[in-house]
Amino acid sequence: MHFTSLSIPLITLSGLITPSIAHPQLRPGQPVLRENEANSRVNTIKEAFEHAWDGYKQYAFPHDELLPISNGHGDSRNGWGASAVDALSTAIMMGNATIVNEIIDHITTVDYSKTDTTVSLFETTIRYLAGMLSGYDLLTGPANDLVEDQEKVEVLLEQSKNLADVLKFAFNTPSGVPYNNLNITSGGNDDATTNGLAVTGTLVLEWTRLSDLTGDPQYARLSQKAQSYLLKPQPATSEPFPGLVGSNINIATGQFADAQVSWNGGADSFYEYLIKMYVYDPEEFGEYKERWVAAAKSSMQHLASHPSSRPDLTFLASYNNGKLGLSSQHLTCFDGGSFLLGGTVLNNDEFINFGLKLVEGCHTTYSETLTGIGPESFGWDANSVPEDQKALYEKAGFYIQSGAYILRPEVIESFYYAWRVTGKEQYREWVWNAFVAINKYCRTGSGFAGLTNVNAANGGSRYDNQESFLFAEVMKYVYLTHSEEAEWQVQRGNGNKFVFNTEAHPFRVR
Ligand SMILES: *[C@@H]1O[C@H](CO)[C@@H](O)[C@H](O)[C@H]1NC(C)=O
Ligand SMILES: *[C@@H]1O[C@H](CO)[C@@H](O)[C@H](O)[C@H]1NC(C)=O
Repeated sequence: MHFTSLSIPLITLSGLITPSIAHPQLRPGQPVLRENEANSRVNTIKEAFEHAWDGYKQYAFPHDELLPISNGHGDSRNGWGASAVDALSTAIMMGNATIVNEIIDHITTVDYSKTDTTVSLFETTIRYLAGMLSGYDLLTGPANDLVEDQEKVEVLLEQSKNLADVLKFAFNTPSGVPYNNLNITSGGNDDATTNGLAVTGTLVLEWTRLSDLTGDPQYARLSQKAQSYLLKPQPATSEPFPGLVGSNINIATGQFADAQVSWNGGADSFYEYLIKMYVYDPEEFGEYKERWVAAAKSSMQHLASHPSSRPDLTFLASYNNGKLGLSSQHLTCFDGGSFLLGGTVLNNDEFINFGLKLVEGCHTTYSETLTGIGPESFGWDANSVPEDQKALYEKAGFYIQSGAYILRPEVIESFYYAWRVTGKEQYREWVWNAFVAINKYCRTGSGFAGLTNVNAANGGSRYDNQESFLFAEVMKYVYLTHSEEAEWQVQRGNGNKFVFNTEAHPFRVR
């Protein structure tokens, strides 16, 4: 999950409605991209990344993000240069030594103990800590020829440790479940009584990696202690179906405070990390895998939902107190990728096939809008279809609840997993089509802007904001889908050498 610096209005829209590098897993009869076409796509993707980097560099660096319409800057992530740190692993994969060196030079200067604003433990972990750790893993591993000065690379690990040392007081609670919203100057917090499932359960990969790289076990211990309450949820009523748990945890006791189940924002990356920890180390994290398998099976059985107008489509509903909630989000569309990763790693075709159904559902939220980009949130409750979206619901199987697009990656991310796991050219085409639409509708003179309404001509109007995950995720997954085989690519089966954090920063597996 990502929070965002924008508040996205939940709007009802007016009812406007309206597609070689030989891959080893290609099946006969599939169209194959010619090599020159694939190269030209890679160049187009690199050009888009460099366009965004150059605009950020010129108008916003070293602030957190570019305002891509006014050419101003924002500091929504404590002013430590979030876009630069988030861009690092993508720039490494693209092999751009100039940008990589610029980013590391910046990271060297950051004082992570100073900020005027509230620090989110979760966002700081997934963007800054992970961005630096991933840069370290790549530059000491498969990309070790990119930066000549190895001492410079060491800064990434030193700064990771400095940052975690600033943040670790968050875990100092009676249960060990952390506060998320921190005042790092005073060592204070926001006095919350509960912490969310995703923000609690999306720390363990990063903090465990930091311990493995530094040899200091305290970071792994802190995050795994917090995680232990999520793996063995109490009270029993907070787990209405095996593996599927509530959304908020009491910070004092570690007990769940509710039994609201979903894969939507707020819960999402908790499920994502269960299987990713197993990829990271199958021996130590077998219990995490068991929990993911239970959650995946329960989701197929109890949350899979088909719109009455399009019974061929599959979305994941939410569940609370005996009732299904028939709405979902762009954020949730990581789910197909999670089933595909779990399915391939565990050699389970049922998970793979269900993952492909989820991918297809999320693709429909892209292919059926005027821009070819999917909405922030959507529903399929036949009894709640807005009058002006009846035609959309009949044709596409969903109606739009918020038509915003703020440069989110999850749909493209799941297309990437589908491409890697099946080798079917169709999924690569879906990535390319999404990229072409984003390049067409979101691109400004200095970068990329969000859209207010993906189902209006030209995407409605634009938000003057470029989230750092444009660099970390959207550009990376589009690039990886079109670039060569590499150690950091997601692999079929259990041959993964790297595992991606929820911000698409790859860590070397243990
Ligand atoms: C790296 O990116 C810059 C834009 O910031 C571009 O001018 C340069 O050509 C790129 N270098 C390589 C090797 O791709
Ligand atoms: C953090 O605490 C310090 C010292 O009590 C205070 O001056 C500052 O305003 C607080 N910062 C935030 C973001 O609340």
